[in-house]
Amino acid sequence: MSSVNLVVMVVGLLVLAQQSFQMSLRNPVAETNNCKIDFTRLGLVLTSDTNEQALQDSGLFTPDAETPYVDIAGRRFHIGTLNARYIVYVKIGGNSIPYSWNYSFGSAGALIYKKSSAGDVSVPLAIAFTGAWNWKKFGSEEGKLIFGEFNYPENGENLLASVDYDTIKLFSKGQSPQDVFWLPSTTSWYSVATKVLQDLELSQCYDGVCLPSKPKIVFGTKGSSSDSYIKNKAYGDFLHKAFNVSTADQESAAVAWTSLSNEKPFIVIRGASNVAGAASPGSQASYLASYNAFLAAAKFIESIPTPRLACE
Ligand SMILES: *[C@@H]1O[C@H](CO)[C@@H](O)[C@H](O)[C@H]1NC(C)=O
Ligand SMILES: *[C@@H]1O[C@H](CO)[C@@H](O)[C@H](O)[C@H]1NC(C)=O
Repeated sequence: MSSVNLVVMVVGLLVLAQQSFQMSLRNPVAETNNCKIDFTRLGLVLTSDTNEQALQDSGLFTPDAETPYVDIAGRRFHIGTLNARYIVYVKIGGNSIPYSWNYSFGSAGALIYKKSSAGDVSVPLAIAFTGAWNWKKFGSEEGKLIFGEFNYPENGENLLASVDYDTIKLFSKGQSPQDVFWLPSTTSWYSVATKVLQDLELSQCYDGVCLPSKPKIVFGTKGSSSDSYIKNKAYGDFLHKAFNVSTADQESAAVAWTSLSNEKPFIVIRGASNVAGAASPGSQASYLASYNAFLAAAKFIESIPTPRLACE
């Protein structure tokens, strides 16, 4: 398995009904006639400056003329349209270093499955939060990850003993808290994505550099997400074996958890690129991964039913 960086474009679709958002993010068209404001603004959660660059390079995003952004709690929410659909996008995670197209991703994780390669885009069925560890005592019963099995050059005893993976609590309105491990993408959206993204043409080349194979969209996988930055091959292989996950990142669980807690539909769309070691070819692949994830997100957003205005 090759070690690869994962560029994450989490597309969380949010119906913005919160009071604090309502005024500033109101659809200007709806305000100027006698129609009830009953529209959905789609929220796009980007995880790196490169994601944002891909969005801007696409030429599909038009900032709102009156209110191009609002700053809330230290984050900038960019307001506008993407292919004539009302969206708001925000960047999370990542490093806040100035953008340069070939910078390495602060928010990257690892792609840990074999059948995929640089520039591929994955749309996972579900995300597991694999950052909640219950660390076992040496000599006590064994957890899932047994450190001794990774001793080098030979397996054996290890005082780090083992860890078990805990569930997390999911709180939502009108329901008692649930203990969950998997955070499933919204079924209806996942199913729309499998249809509309099936034949999407992804880019193989950028700035004269081409990926070694034609990138593809991968459905039906599961993802791992935690606050650890995973570059370690042995741990990646372990995650794959233990949970059958194909990707690892640092953001999707947070977005999934927040969306599920607030009963908002969400979907995760991620692009993967090899860590080349040497900066240059890797950076082009990283950009292509972001760009391809963005193409998929844009196509998906286009296919979500158009918001309606109820006119009097
Ligand atoms: C980007 O590439 C240029 C030239 O290839 C190099 O000078 C620069 O250090 C690179 N930037 C990063 C962040 O790797
Ligand atoms: C593991 O995940 C793959 C998709 O990435 C799926 O095709 C396969 O059936 C899964 N295996 C098991 C044992 O669940």
